[in-house]
Amino acid sequence: MRLLAISDLHLGHPKNRERLETIGASPEDWLILAGDVGETDAHLTLAFDYLLPRFARLIWVPGNHELWTTSRTPGALAGEARYEALVALARRHGVITPEDPFPVWPDPERPTMIVPMFTLYDYSFRPDDVPLDGVVAWAAAENSVCADEYLLHPAPYRSRIEWCAARAALTEARLRALPDDCATVLVNHFPLRQAHARLPRVPRFTPWCGTRRTEDWPERFRARAVVFGHLHIRKTFEEAGVAFHEVSLGYPRQWDQQRTIASYMRVILEA
Ligand SMILES: [Fe+2]
Ligand SMILES: [Fe+2]
Repeated sequence: MRLLAISDLHLGHPKNRERLETIGASPEDWLILAGDVGETDAHLTLAFDYLLPRFARLIWVPGNHELWTTSRTPGALAGEARYEALVALARRHGVITPEDPFPVWPDPERPTMIVPMFTLYDYSFRPDDVPLDGVVAWAAAENSVCADEYLLHPAPYRSRIEWCAARAALTEARLRALPDDCATVLVNHFPLRQAHARLPRVPRFTPWCGTRRTEDWPERFRARAVVFGHLHIRKTFEEAGVAFHEVSLGYPRQWDQQRTIASYMRVILEA
């Protein structure tokens, strides 16, 4: 029995969509989908319908792309209302979301909670000498512009910064309430640490990549592993005994279509 993870399936791209069926059945295993499944309810439904019967459990967190409001968004829902609709869609399928009780990984030696999270970003992943009100212009000066600026709305909050603060507070309170002897696997679309949001090709995209509020969460909340995506730069590394996994598939040009999508899944835990 394994805990597997992948993110950024980006099923809006036909080449990714057509290759979804290269994921075979793995009925003992749990699968984490760490965001950016696609942009529409149809993309999520496609992934959930296909993957649910093939895995023992499916755990999903939203990426920024799912939260976009486009002409195809049902009811033109935006911001938190869009997020709530996504959670409802996942729950209708039986998929575990950041709003559900944390599933417990059956490890007799070390009880471990799998913690799906949604903490967004707040532009704090920027150099200290760049002021908040200049951060978008600073990024644009090197051609980094995030489509979220037009498509990811913060309502009812006044800004994505406020929404991020609310999400981080709520998530932190749930983590603080866990028993002291329980370990965690923290799952978020965005990296939890600023140092992990390194994008050599678009170095000024980092403001849209996370929040400094989560910097110490891996140690504070006894993480065995941290799973994230968003960067489209696959990587596994360790810091102070915690395994960090960036598990993106990415856009068609970012992975080898001769391979199966399953071969890009990372093993996070094994029981
Ligand atoms: Fe992505
Ligand atoms: Fe993303």
